[in-house]
Amino acid sequence: MMKIIENYSLKSLNTFGVDVKTRYIAEIFSDNDLFKLLEDKEFESVRKFILGGGSNILFTKDFEGLVIKNSIPGINIIDEDDESIIIETGAGVNWDDFVSYCVEKKWCGVENLSLIPGTVGAAPIQNIGAYGQELKNVLYNLEGIFIETGEKKIFNNYECKFSYRESIFKNEFKNKFVITRIVFKLSKKPEVNISYPLVREELNNRKISDPKIRDLRKIVVDIRNSKLPDPKIIGNAGSFFKNPVVRNDKFKMLKEKYPDLNSYPVDDDHVKLSAAALIEKCGWKGKRIGNCGSYEKQPLVIVNYGEATAGEILELANNIRSSVEENFEVTLQQEVNLV
Ligand code: FAD
Ligand code: EPU
Repeated sequence: MMKIIENYSLKSLNTFGVDVKTRYIAEIFSDNDLFKLLEDKEFESVRKFILGGGSNILFTKDFEGLVIKNSIPGINIIDEDDESIIIETGAGVNWDDFVSYCVEKKWCGVENLSLIPGTVGAAPIQNIGAYGQELKNVLYNLEGIFIETGEKKIFNNYECKFSYRESIFKNEFKNKFVITRIVFKLSKKPEVNISYPLVREELNNRKISDPKIRDLRKIVVDIRNSKLPDPKIIGNAGSFFKNPVVRNDKFKMLKEKYPDLNSYPVDDDHVKLSAAALIEKCGWKGKRIGNCGSYEKQPLVIVNYGEATAGEILELANNIRSSVEENFEVTLQQEVNLV
């Protein structure tokens, strides 16, 4: 029998460390567990929320519904040839355990996404990305179940509508579809991605001229540890905002005023700006307001120094957003999911 717990504190289940409660919580380990919950008359009209590792969420108040913690396990090889391998992974598998497993096997494609907190099942929601790689480049398809109807569906890569920190699951199907497993296609050829300047710099520093998959993992882990706060020590949910995408002419105007502003190409008409740089220029870097603040080594990360409430975190986020708006006429969009 699946255990359903009432009035449960979510403090240890969200990396911001915000102290809120849920009315009900249940942990699922299989599709069958999920079907049982969805068919349970007692929860028919109860609001449901799917929880992975809680590392991209800000709970703003007690949740008056049922939290479904996805812990579906398993890593299985589906198919392989000399060049590539197709692997199916349960949504509840820890993302970095999966990455570490692939790196040990010398399967190439996810090593640049090392050390991103959370579960495999949440990775498609915002198309996780880091150091020149995005999930959409390695996802073959995914399977899940619609909460309303219990219908199973497989989405191929195209149908997920991936873009920078976006997917169909964060938009049309937000809170409507439970991802249960993901199929990846990884390469057996050790062609590592060294497109990110910081990664190349580190390779140079370490005098590595022929980088292996495990070198990439090591470098990404070291870079991340050097500037991102460890949620076990300081509460946070990674980047609070997305990097803003602006039109070329807008960037040209900003560049006249701020000659040292960098940009990264997106398409013919747009560039991406560094939200961290904009926030830093507004003077927020390392600033602490009460129980929360903008992190000293990465201003895009909002941190909880211990007892912050969601209200305090949101107030700080709004103040940061207003400053950036006033100074640059650029609107920062939240990356973190508010519940
Ligand atoms: P949760 O926070 O539990 O959930 C996030 C959202 O996904 C919620 O809306 C939830 O309802 C939904 N969801 C979760 N699981 C499922 C499922 N199985 N089916 C349907 N919906 C689901 N992100 C990056 O992209 N790149 C980074 O470099 C990065 N660095 C980070 C560094 C730190 C220190 C932290 C704390 C976070 C970072 N993040 C980064 C954000 C976060 O790690 C990712 O968004 C991650 O994918 C969230 O996984 P999770 O299991 O914790 O999801
Ligand atoms: N920067 C500053 N001041 C700082 C730190 C950074 O100005 O104190 C600027 C610099 O211009 C620097 C640039 O930010 O060159 C890049 O910094 P970083 O490599 O940390 O990248 P980011 O754009 O701030 C994005 C992702 C991260 C991801 C890294 C690495 C978003 C919203 N964030 O951050 O993802 O790990 O790139 O690829 O796209 C997350 O999504 O939660 C997350 C942590």
